[in-house]
Amino acid sequence: MDIETLFGLFDAKGAESYGESVTQIEHALQCAHLAEAEGASGALVTAALLHDVGHLLHRDTRAAYERAVDDRHEALAAKALAGLFGPEVCEPIRLHVDAKRYLCLREPGYFGSLSPTSVMTLRLQGGPMDAAEADAFERDPHFEDAVRLRRWDEGGKVPDRATPALAHFRAIAERCLAPTDR
Ligand SMILES: [Fe+2]
Repeated sequence: MDIETLFGLFDAKGAESYGESVTQIEHALQCAHLAEAEGASGALVTAALLHDVGHLLHRDTRAAYERAVDDRHEALAAKALAGLFGPEVCEPIRLHVDAKRYLCLREPGYFGSLSPTSVMTLRLQGGPMDAAEADAFERDPHFEDAVRLRRWDEGGKVPDRATPALAHFRAIAERCLAPTDR
């Protein structure tokens, strides 16, 4: 996939519902905006922007949910983006579902903060981690970035919140392209 195709997905499918009270593009922009406001690196802002691009690549995420199967959108996105960006972008994306499963075990009150859709998908994604899984997850070099991304993911679901436009974050993403794609 090239960068034009990637951003074309937002034009083609960004207005689709995220399954919450925001659209896919609103959710992506809000997550990237939260990351930037926290002073995250360009790579992590890019990861926040693109973390759910797997939903746009998936033929039909809603049908997958209705059949009660996990769409594995985090793996789909990480694989699709691997030719464009390095692991500092792709790994937090690949791990953002695991970060939810981790926080459900290790952070009191986190589960109660999840949206109804996130609770529903948690079940399909394997439920909360057990202690051994959580210990292993903490040793992953991208653990902290994945958890930060997950918090923006939960925060980026506010109807009508103002954000910078997609072009602002596209410029940040283009500066993070892996050298072979420049
Ligand atoms: Fe998300």
